[in-house]
Amino acid sequence: MAGKKKSVKKTVKNKSIKKKSVKKKAAVEKKHYDVAVIGAGPAGYVAAIRCAQLGLDTVCIDEWQNHEGESSLGGTCLNVGCIPSKALLESSHLYAQAHNELAQHGIGVTDVTLDLAVMMQRKNKVVADLTSGIDSLFRANGVKVIYGRAHIMDMHEIEVSERGTLQQLARVTADNIIIATGSSPVRLEQAPLHDGYIIDSAGALEMEEVPERLGIIGAGAIGLELGSVWSRLGSDVVLFEAMKDFLPIADARIANLVKRSLTAQGMDIRLNARMVSAEVLDGQVHVVYEDTNGQHEEILDKLIVAVGRKPNSDRVFGEELGIEHDERRFILVDDKCRTSVPHIYAIGDVVRGPMLAHKGSEEGIMVAEHIAGNKHAQVNYDLIPSVIYTHPEVAWAGKTEQECMKHGIEIKGGTFPIAASGRARAMGNIEGQVKIICDVETDEVVGVHIFSSHASELIASAVLMMEMQATSEDIAMTMFAHPTLSESIHEAALAVSKRAIHIKN
Ligand code: FAD
Ligand code: NAI
Repeated sequence: MAGKKKSVKKTVKNKSIKKKSVKKKAAVEKKHYDVAVIGAGPAGYVAAIRCAQLGLDTVCIDEWQNHEGESSLGGTCLNVGCIPSKALLESSHLYAQAHNELAQHGIGVTDVTLDLAVMMQRKNKVVADLTSGIDSLFRANGVKVIYGRAHIMDMHEIEVSERGTLQQLARVTADNIIIATGSSPVRLEQAPLHDGYIIDSAGALEMEEVPERLGIIGAGAIGLELGSVWSRLGSDVVLFEAMKDFLPIADARIANLVKRSLTAQGMDIRLNARMVSAEVLDGQVHVVYEDTNGQHEEILDKLIVAVGRKPNSDRVFGEELGIEHDERRFILVDDKCRTSVPHIYAIGDVVRGPMLAHKGSEEGIMVAEHIAGNKHAQVNYDLIPSVIYTHPEVAWAGKTEQECMKHGIEIKGGTFPIAASGRARAMGNIEGQVKIICDVETDEVVGVHIFSSHASELIASAVLMMEMQATSEDIAMTMFAHPTLSESIHEAALAVSKRAIHIKN
């Protein structure tokens, strides 16, 4: 997402600039801007860059500090979310491949070892390179940065104070304000965080050794991804999920395949599991949970709490401003991300919709365009791609079969098993399926669901097809390169009209 820095040296240099800037800005900042963006996560930093590109005098205020107490742009996504989790998913996948897959390619390796400290250092460097990359992008685009906590004092006035001390650093005024303050992990009363033992997702990206038995509360996106990381590195992973269905936001057929695959990989997924208590005794986590068969106890080395995230809207403005929010404190916005106060916008995790980086970024671009006068800018909320980076990956866009049934949309579909793909065979990744759902009357594609290696890349073409209102016939008539995984999309589209070539229709 962000531009990359080349050398470690430069990264270190950038960090020191950031450190100094906190002090320097403290004395001087008092200025008026066209736009003030609060938060430099993927929603806020993208909004700020686009505003500046459109000629608006823009300031971005962010309070994030890393472990060293240094300011770090990029919000949750770059610091403790998308990027570090994907770095560890990549490393752990390579480790698992070295153990389980290289031999079938005729590659013999002896003594596959794990240096977790080096793996973590690599992850930290990926994060540092990308967060400092945003710093460079801000400078290149002329976005002014203030490091500190922002509070909207008045309709157009923001006070910035130092995180921790709350000492006032700056006061800025702006014609327009964009709130992009993101979200934080939901805490669970029954499983309070306990240093190093009961941890949240950020803690799960920092573990210094591989726990023998790792529990995770919540089999959502974080549970499945971080569960995969630590399972591949050697942990026995137990997932406690409160819902009776596995991954109910995905298409049911695909969700079943995912569950079967992860179970085969060694992850113990317990559905309908209601947490009763979790406490640390003699260096281990004692968990009590309930399911339809009664109460059970588990003893674990670590427990990750991954039960969703809540919006960061409580410290940004006072009720007197009239910015409305719902009972869960999501800021209320319309489809253009306007709050109840006309010149104040809110984007990203702090507002309704899926908590995804790309959704926030697109909202940021829309709001920037809107402020600059392009009133036609919009986000297509019906086509937000979702990806869960397990192996194989799960990706989807548009409607599931269950949603279509619920909304009375008559559909027809085509599926294609990844095992029938020549490229998948060559790669040795034959697990999964592509499923295409079309409106029965118009043939328009209304949903694409993929469980396959590289599904995160494949889903982009599906989103484009649906943006262009393609029919299954359009896709059937399109040429796909051979041998590629994307041919599976072609075959699934052909299968809609029972014309698939490489499977029996
Ligand atoms: P954030 O990224 O949370 O940024 C908000 C920023 O605002 C922060 O820097 C915060 O410090 C700052 N801030 C808050 N309050 C103030 C204040 N008062 N003053 C100044 N600054 C303030 N999404 C994906 O799309 N793909 C993924 O693969 C993915 N993986 C994830 C993995 C994990 C482990 C986690 C936890 C999340 C993941 N997400 C992923 C979700 C993604 O991180 C969020 O959807 C995204 O970061 C939201 O962006 P945002 O800009 O709205 O908020
Ligand atoms: P989530 O909403 O995806 O999953 C939370 C899970 O916890 C749900 O399945 C829920 O039923 C379960 N749960 C809730 N309370 C529970 C309880 N008391 N006991 C047992 N289970 C309980 O939230 P998650 O995984 O914390 O992720 C937060 C956000 O971050 C998500 O909205 C997601 O979109 C985003 N994210 C996205 C990723 C991606 O795009 N690849 C990766 C990681 C996170």
